[in-house]
Amino acid sequence: MLIDTHAHIDMDNFQDRFEEVLKTAKDYGVEKIVIPGVEPSGFARILSLCEKYENIYGAVGIHPEDVNSYDENSENLIREYLKHEKIIAVGEIGLDYYWDKTQTEKQKEIFEKQILIAKEAKKPVLVHDREAHFDTFEILKKTQAAEVGVVMHCFSGSVEFAKQCIKEGFYIALGGVTTFKNAKKTKEVAKEIPLDRLLLETDSPYMTPVPYRGKENQPAYVKFVAQEIAKLREITFEEVVSATTDNAKKLLKI
Ligand code: NI
Repeated sequence: MLIDTHAHIDMDNFQDRFEEVLKTAKDYGVEKIVIPGVEPSGFARILSLCEKYENIYGAVGIHPEDVNSYDENSENLIREYLKHEKIIAVGEIGLDYYWDKTQTEKQKEIFEKQILIAKEAKKPVLVHDREAHFDTFEILKKTQAAEVGVVMHCFSGSVEFAKQCIKEGFYIALGGVTTFKNAKKTKEVAKEIPLDRLLLETDSPYMTPVPYRGKENQPAYVKFVAQEIAKLREITFEEVVSATTDNAKKLLKI
């Protein structure tokens, strides 16, 4: 059974057909789903979904695009939510120099603060790194985030960067991009990195894999990512599923 380690199914897009999306996921063999937080006003909904559905887990954190919502209150809120057993990580946190280059210092400061909260809570971090590989890596190394576990969500770096991350003990999460015809770099990563460092995700509703590219993504489609990785590595689909599911269970304790 598959695990989707990153799906924003708390978003309004899914509200009216949440059960249907879960059922489709189950039909596709998806056993567990992790919903990452992006900003404080969304945490309550994530927790309520975790409490309602056994196979849903959540994370809380402030996304680099939402750093302005970070203050003492939101920091306390993150700490509070982390006490819940189904809130299994801090995320998604990190750096995004693609959308906003005006607040890089602030992004770095808040990324680091949230890593320290994760370390306090002894829970892993789900990391968003967009066009910020160097700084993201430096901060993760400096804070020794690997002690609690690091997931490089929607990994977009080269195979060399992936290997550097793995050397530090990080996990690499791959999603829909792996199935894109022109995604040479990501396909190479999928092929080259050790299986015991690999996680699967959809990043729903974004990043929809082939054959549904361009449409709305949902956790069920993590299956297409696993199929593509199996093809690239010339191993069976079952091998990819079993390795990535074991990795997710071990790291995220789900
Ligand atoms: Ni995300």
